[in-house]
Amino acid sequence: MIDPFGREVTYLRVSVTDRCDFRCKYCMAENMTFLPKKDVLSLEEIEQVTAAFIRKGVRKIRLTGGEPLVRKGIMELIRNLGRYRESGELDELTLTTNGSQLDRFADDLYAAGVRRINVSMDTLDAEKFHDITRWGHLDKVLSGIDAAQKAGLKVKINTVAVKGFNDGEFDDLIRWTGDRDMDITFIETMPMGQIDELRSDRFIRLKDLKATLAERWPLVPTDYKTGGPSDYMINQETGTRVGFISPLTHNFCESCNRVRLTCTGMLYLCLGQEDSANLKDVLRGPGGLDALDAAIDEAIGRKPKGHDFVIDRTHDNKPAVSRHMSVTGG
Ligand code: GTP
Ligand code: 5AD
Ligand code: SF4
Repeated sequence: MIDPFGREVTYLRVSVTDRCDFRCKYCMAENMTFLPKKDVLSLEEIEQVTAAFIRKGVRKIRLTGGEPLVRKGIMELIRNLGRYRESGELDELTLTTNGSQLDRFADDLYAAGVRRINVSMDTLDAEKFHDITRWGHLDKVLSGIDAAQKAGLKVKINTVAVKGFNDGEFDDLIRWTGDRDMDITFIETMPMGQIDELRSDRFIRLKDLKATLAERWPLVPTDYKTGGPSDYMINQETGTRVGFISPLTHNFCESCNRVRLTCTGMLYLCLGQEDSANLKDVLRGPGGLDALDAAIDEAIGRKPKGHDFVIDRTHDNKPAVSRHMSVTGG
């Protein structure tokens, strides 16, 4: 699948649910309305659409949410998708999780062929963790991370950089992850969906943070690539990686290789644009798999060049994209 800008699409992110057991302040409003069940693809339908993408050349699948592990029956989907990895049709099957359910799922994930997961964790302070997630308990996430590592999963921590919240903790997080043989990626907050606070008050330019951290840590550039947007440096002190996802201060759209399927069967062609295709209607319509293939081709043919994210006061009350990150799973 080649898009109009010559980029090959090989990475599908699948949001299996818009629901989450946390309410991170930069991600969701406290009172969210979630989708009615009838609008949500069944796990069999998600597998059908995912399989169509694999036939078309997708090599990496990441399950996201909301929180993917709160979707009932999710392990069956993961086991089924794991077979594509076993047969060599997929290079990687992975997920991004908030870690709250990892205690229960770590061994099963490994057995299903998952080898690497990303866990979102913005602070090491239990009170602050409870504050930013509104509902989350840090000890549960920490024991989940432990369980994941014991099961043999490689863990990367995702930390959204939030001014006035975790900006005093970046060094601690680098040390903590490094000591535990984990990579960490810092993420710029993106203007998606209405939240209960002003994003411009919270925004940290990661381009600047990277320069500051490089003064304190022996960070050296590496061309390590996962197929995702993170720009990695090696921390020579620990041998682990520190990554930066900086859509606003360092645009990486030129090398974009990914599209996103939501749990309602919408295909979003860019995280930061509204363009989409309704694959659910096609799948549930009379045209079958041929129609699905044609709809995917048509959509890839109009993948936009990149996002239009900006963070400044004039945009505060109107996010660049009205849907929340939890709808498309980041
Ligand atoms: P790796 O496979 O470990 O590289 O993961 P990843 O960075 O592809 O995925 P992850 O789920 O860890 O995403 C981390 C953050 O990157 C999330 O906040 C995503 O929203 C963001 N992200 C991923 N892809 C894109 C993208 O195409 N555009 C933008 N703006 N952000 C992205
Ligand atoms: N900007 C940046 N990252 C976000 N995430 C959720 N909402 C936002 C946002 N508005 C992150 C989560 C998780 C990943 C999937 O997206 O913390 O790590
Ligand atoms: Fe849930 Fe992730 Fe959003 Fe936090 S960032 S509320 S963990 S979907």
